[in-house]
Amino acid sequence: MRIDILTLFPNMFDGVFQESILKRAIDDKKVEIHLHNFREDSTDSHHKVDDTPYGGGCGMVLMCQPIFDCIERLKTDHCKVIMLTPDGIAYKQQMAYDLSHETHLILLCGHYEGFDERIRTICDLEISIGDYVLTGGEIPAMALVDSIVRLIPGVIEEESHINDSFHENLLDYPTYTKPRVFRGMEVPEVLLNGNHKEILSYREEMRYNRTRERRPDLLEK
Ligand code: ADE
Repeated sequence: MRIDILTLFPNMFDGVFQESILKRAIDDKKVEIHLHNFREDSTDSHHKVDDTPYGGGCGMVLMCQPIFDCIERLKTDHCKVIMLTPDGIAYKQQMAYDLSHETHLILLCGHYEGFDERIRTICDLEISIGDYVLTGGEIPAMALVDSIVRLIPGVIEEESHINDSFHENLLDYPTYTKPRVFRGMEVPEVLLNGNHKEILSYREEMRYNRTRERRPDLLEK
């Protein structure tokens, strides 16, 4: 998979792709990630990328020209262009699964007051990572890349996807490791007896209980 990220702040991504599972996925050539500062695409003599909003109001609005030119330069026949914006559709695990099957993603990070509305016409999808407003689309882009890349076949053991929270619309079951007792808190007996059938049914029950308590909306699906 190839991922192109359009951002005015490429340095924000330092580190994120150089550690842990994402680094390994890049080293193993499961994914290649390219950062593009679309300020370099601005035809303005001062490399301007934003301007004041028509009709008045506060803040600056990202202009069409640098973003259109940058995306048109990178676009391929099979790519999906995704805008990160708080008014996009709510990002869900199922979308991460679907996007992990794509071969080319272009992620567009906004900043400031927002995008010129016409920029939406060059995007296939608009995604929000939650009902809160961040200072830009960079952190949402990192969240998308992380959640998608870990699902690319061969990046992590496929069995662990089955245990992920949100698999089958259920949260994950509780897990424990050594020691058996920590500050008086004990590991549930059922996990110690080696009876795999009992362990499986305990874990299923815990997934349902936890989902019912914390995210009843998931059970309605
Ligand atoms: N940009 C700012 N806030 C955002 C959010 N919640 N999701 C996606 N992009 C954003």
